[in-house]
Amino acid sequence: MARPATIFSCSACGTQSPKWHGRCPGCGEWNTLVEERAPAPSGARARGAAAGAAGAATAAQAVRLRDVQVERTPRLRTGIGELDRVLGGGLVPGSLVLLGGSPGIGKSTLTNMALGHLAAAGRRTLYVSGEESAAQIRLRAERLGDAALDVPVLAETDLDAVLATMRAERPEACVIDSVQTLHSAALDSAPGTVGQVREVATRVAEVAKRSGTAVVLVGHVTKEGSLAGPRVLEHLVDCVLQFEGERERTYRTLRALKNRFGSTNDVGVFEMAANGLAEVLDASARFVGEATKAPGSVVLAAMEGSRPLLVEVQALVSPSELVPPRRVCNGLDRNRLALVLAVLGRHAGVAVGSADVFVNVVGGVRIDEPGADLAVALAVASAARGVATSPSPLACFGEIGLTGELRSVAHPERRAAEAAQFGLRTVLSPVGAPTLRAAVRGALGERDRPARAA
Ligand SMILES: Nc1ncnc2c1ncn2[C@@H]1O[C@H](COP(=O)(O)OP(=O)(O)OP(=O)(O)O)[C@@H](O)[C@H]1O
Ligand SMILES: [Mg+2]
Repeated sequence: MARPATIFSCSACGTQSPKWHGRCPGCGEWNTLVEERAPAPSGARARGAAAGAAGAATAAQAVRLRDVQVERTPRLRTGIGELDRVLGGGLVPGSLVLLGGSPGIGKSTLTNMALGHLAAAGRRTLYVSGEESAAQIRLRAERLGDAALDVPVLAETDLDAVLATMRAERPEACVIDSVQTLHSAALDSAPGTVGQVREVATRVAEVAKRSGTAVVLVGHVTKEGSLAGPRVLEHLVDCVLQFEGERERTYRTLRALKNRFGSTNDVGVFEMAANGLAEVLDASARFVGEATKAPGSVVLAAMEGSRPLLVEVQALVSPSELVPPRRVCNGLDRNRLALVLAVLGRHAGVAVGSADVFVNVVGGVRIDEPGADLAVALAVASAARGVATSPSPLACFGEIGLTGELRSVAHPERRAAEAAQFGLRTVLSPVGAPTLRAAVRGALGERDRPARAA
């Protein structure tokens, strides 16, 4: 009897190979190739291949885009404003959304709430859980309010049973929590392996496209923070959302890493409360309200995608015996901090060479834009000198160049307007201060004298 054909796929990047390698030829990771049964070619594919080989395939008809028929189905609004905004206006019927996030961040809560709102609006919904029993889901739903209790649930891990239910119920919105727990009997491998995850996503996508169901696949995140399972999943779906934040903090951010139907710039801010996730619409007001007026604190007028956001950046500079001294930052890129400290020392007279430097973006927010440079520099300068900024709190934004100049960043008016709206009239930016030295002097109210190192 012929041995069933097997292939080896990398559990990190999804690269496939006919034989086993100790090191993945795709991503270079060690010991990640796992054996899987090669999917049997479908009848249609086998016939097509045979016909193609004989050169007998009939040419398909290409259609001008103008003549393509489009059914304009409106998006499904989930009733959670921040989620709808990140999705680009709501769930698109027939699309697949992958929602990733670390354990306990609130993925099930968010999707339960969204389905609850949709059910309350008269939509057909389905919540498939491979992780929790129906009773556990009910307990959560009780916390989330009455609407969440109207959502039909299916506690099931068998892919075929889930697909059959989807075909029978034809829900308009369906959540699969999580994609790693479903299991297809067509493959021998365990749930959550590359082959299984890909099989689940592909077959769910087929059913979703045919029935016009908007599907949200919940996915786990690995220790390194990337979506567990193969990267190929990210290509298969229409939209990849990342739900992040630190578990011990209340703020959680939702951002789109990929979106075929909207921008990837928008960010939703949520707060976990007893009755579910609450949208934080006035994030700036909260962060500014909480900002301290002590030395080492400044307010950064940041852009989170298309939305301005004010966040407090704090720094602590303390003398150290360690060589090299510590550079610790939360919510920022370490290399960016190193650059800012180097320019501060070289061009602005604030040397912190023999001190530990800690920088923290308050509230568990992560800032990934060059406009944060000036805030980091001013927080460190203020901490190093032990002098609070004047006025305090002071709002600022700007990128720092290697020669000590300040460079303009996108949307200066919107950043300044957001600061003004929350009572921060003085905004230090590259417009008012062309160099970092001038900005430090302006912020710390210093006269023209050579600055003393900390
Ligand atoms: N009564 C409560 N009050 C406030 N927060 C709560 C309460 N009960 C649960 N939570 C929060 O909800 C979180 C769990 O949410 P949820 O189950 O949606 O997370 P998840 O991302 O689906 O996790 P998992 O990866 O384990 O499935 C907990 O970490 C906790 O922060
Ligand atoms: Mg969950």
